[in-house]
Amino acid sequence: MLLHYIKNPKRTGAVCSSSKRLSNIITENIGIENASNIIEIGPGLGVFTKYILSKKQKDCVFFAVEINENLAKNLCRKIKDIDVEVGSAEFLESMMKKRNMQYADVIVSGIPWALLSRVEQDRILQSIYKALKPGGYFATFAYVIPTLHAKNFKKKIFYTFNSVKTSNVIWSNIPPAFVYYCKK
Ligand SMILES: C[S@@+](CC[C@H](N)C(=O)[O-])C[C@H]1O[C@@H](n2cnc3c(N)ncnc32)[C@H](O)[C@@H]1O
Repeated sequence: MLLHYIKNPKRTGAVCSSSKRLSNIITENIGIENASNIIEIGPGLGVFTKYILSKKQKDCVFFAVEINENLAKNLCRKIKDIDVEVGSAEFLESMMKKRNMQYADVIVSGIPWALLSRVEQDRILQSIYKALKPGGYFATFAYVIPTLHAKNFKKKIFYTFNSVKTSNVIWSNIPPAFVYYCKK
């Protein structure tokens, strides 16, 4: 992850992968076990992916969206038969159409929201909201560092979703982080 961060810090967003504890917590209490359709955004090295795949049902349709082609290729090498789309999460609609997926029950995201501009945040958040089934869950994480863009993102999700809950802070993650569980 460090190498990708050096090449493109804004898009990559972190020097190392999320911890096992954060990966477990972000995939909890959002209905992964009963979902028919799941999308992961920004899988990077695939730490959340492994937890999603181990918790989901066998016949659940799953695909991941990764903007970095090298990371996407690496993920395909690492996880057998995984469906990864190279592109931006702004374009979920067409990616879902390709797979005959009408709605997603669950969307898990690892993208670096606090590093994105307001416009980028809006575009991706709208794409996620549109893709989700009413009652579906969107789970994402934030670092505890209160930057202006992080505050903007928080405001946006509270405004957009029906309910938003937060997890405790995972202090063992580098940097410490917490999860937003957003219900449409
Ligand atoms: C902070 S890393 C997180 C990786 C992993 N989920 C984790 O938590 O360790 C963010 C990932 O999101 C990807 N990414 C950034 N913007 C994206 C976008 N618009 N659409 C899809 N993936 C994106 C980056 O390439 C990177 O792999």
